[in-house]
Amino acid sequence: MSSTNRVRKAVFPVAGLGTRFLPATKAVPKEMLTILDKPVIQYAVDEARAAGIEHFIFVTGRNKGVIEDHFDLQYELQDTLEKRNKKEALEVLAKYQPTAGTTSFTRQQAPLGLGHAVWCARDLVGNEPFALLLPDMVMKDDKGCLSGMVELFQETAGNIIATEEVAWEDTHKYGVVERGKNLDMGFEITGMVEKPEPGTAPSNLFINGRYILQPEIFSLLEKQGPGAGNEIQLTDSMLTLAKSQPFFGYQFTGNTYDCGSREGFIKANMAFAMDDPELAKEIANELSRLIEK
Ligand code: UTP
Repeated sequence: MSSTNRVRKAVFPVAGLGTRFLPATKAVPKEMLTILDKPVIQYAVDEARAAGIEHFIFVTGRNKGVIEDHFDLQYELQDTLEKRNKKEALEVLAKYQPTAGTTSFTRQQAPLGLGHAVWCARDLVGNEPFALLLPDMVMKDDKGCLSGMVELFQETAGNIIATEEVAWEDTHKYGVVERGKNLDMGFEITGMVEKPEPGTAPSNLFINGRYILQPEIFSLLEKQGPGAGNEIQLTDSMLTLAKSQPFFGYQFTGNTYDCGSREGFIKANMAFAMDDPELAKEIANELSRLIEK
């Protein structure tokens, strides 16, 4: 296990097929669908930057080139906006422009599962702990989920998994953790179950798509055979890693929207719109009008 407690790098697996969003995702990656005026992927990158992440690693796949373009400098657009003196638009571009050399892209050649996508980042991460953010899971809170996890990691080291409360009757839809001893900030994780049978979940805390992992996960993923859904599952390798390294839970108390599903995506758009002073009133009025109809 690495002795550093700095988390400098974050991995964003964006190679999934996004079948739940077809036909939109035939040509447009689901991570580029927008919540208001920002693509879904931007929310996870902003959360990582706010948590002190310095290097952003994207595991992409076929048809995902536009994600790389999104984080590049758009020279022609920039030039045209400068010539037209469009200051506000230029400020928006500058705000989201990563510093040169702080992004890396590698391709998962076939969508063999989340575990395999993470393994594809092994050389770019190297021998240090790293953050893993599933960009579909868009978090809304004043304090970013990853920022809280980094604070916990500075106390505990080991591996951290973010969790969140869900209704007990919904636990069978998620990966759920078993909660051990409480710590000052988080708690020890003593087990993890992927989609437990109804009534058997060890807690109502589901794994919400944010992790801080030690680099030893990579050698386990390398040997990991296919699991549920015939995909290489991250959870299977985390369970093996948990036999030799501690895992801690961070309890996120904000809201998470699963933007890989239509329902979550629409809810996220509504939630962010209600926070936007220019949109809130109009959207609320329109919703009440539709409900009354
Ligand atoms: P999901 O299962 O939510 O993504 O994977 P999916 O397969 O794209 O979605 P559907 O079910 O077909 O609609 C969770 C995360 O893991 C990534 C996805 O991009 C998403 O961020 N992933 C999944 C990969 O990068 N590679 C894979 O082989 C599978």
